[in-house]
Amino acid sequence: MKKLLVSEQEIKEICARIGKEITDKFIGDENPPIIIGVLKGAAPFMMDLIKEIKCFVELDFVQYSSYQRTKSTGVVVMKKDISTDIKGRNVIIVEDIVDTGKTFAKMVEYLHTYEPLHIYTCTLLDKKARREVEFECDFVGKEIPNYFVYGYGLDYLEYFRNTKEIYYIDDEKIIIDELNNKKEWNY
Ligand code: HPA
Ligand code: MG
Repeated sequence: MKKLLVSEQEIKEICARIGKEITDKFIGDENPPIIIGVLKGAAPFMMDLIKEIKCFVELDFVQYSSYQRTKSTGVVVMKKDISTDIKGRNVIIVEDIVDTGKTFAKMVEYLHTYEPLHIYTCTLLDKKARREVEFECDFVGKEIPNYFVYGYGLDYLEYFRNTKEIYYIDDEKIIIDELNNKKEWNY
């Protein structure tokens, strides 16, 4: 059976809180931030978060690959680059989860080559116990233990991104059984 880690209600509260933090920071600023969502995982969170931001923002997306199943390689390969000129602009990168911090740090380093004014970082989940480089996000939804998690953008073998809650795996056999029987949906 699925094990709940973050409920729909808690996700709503996180979006409202971070939305307000971003609003408070940028309201009245004549340089509105560009919010860059990291595909595919951050998409559901980003869509809920932006509706809680009550000031001018622009949106963009990036996609890079780095994660091979449950292991982080620390190598960033750009699959889709930004399509906005961020030079001199405030940027907020939105991620679904940060663990080692290596790929997120590389992403920030890469976006700095476009000479933005400032890059802020935002993540829904922070698996701090797995950090391998010094890396603090400016906006954090929730700190979580070292579990493999899925749902609400986060995938297990590309599935389960379409749920309203976030779950964790304590027995991988159970989720493998679920994927072997796709006629049944228990979420
Ligand atoms: N689940 C899905 N994707 C991830 C995770 C996780 O626990 N950690 C880093 N990327
Ligand atoms: Mg991600």
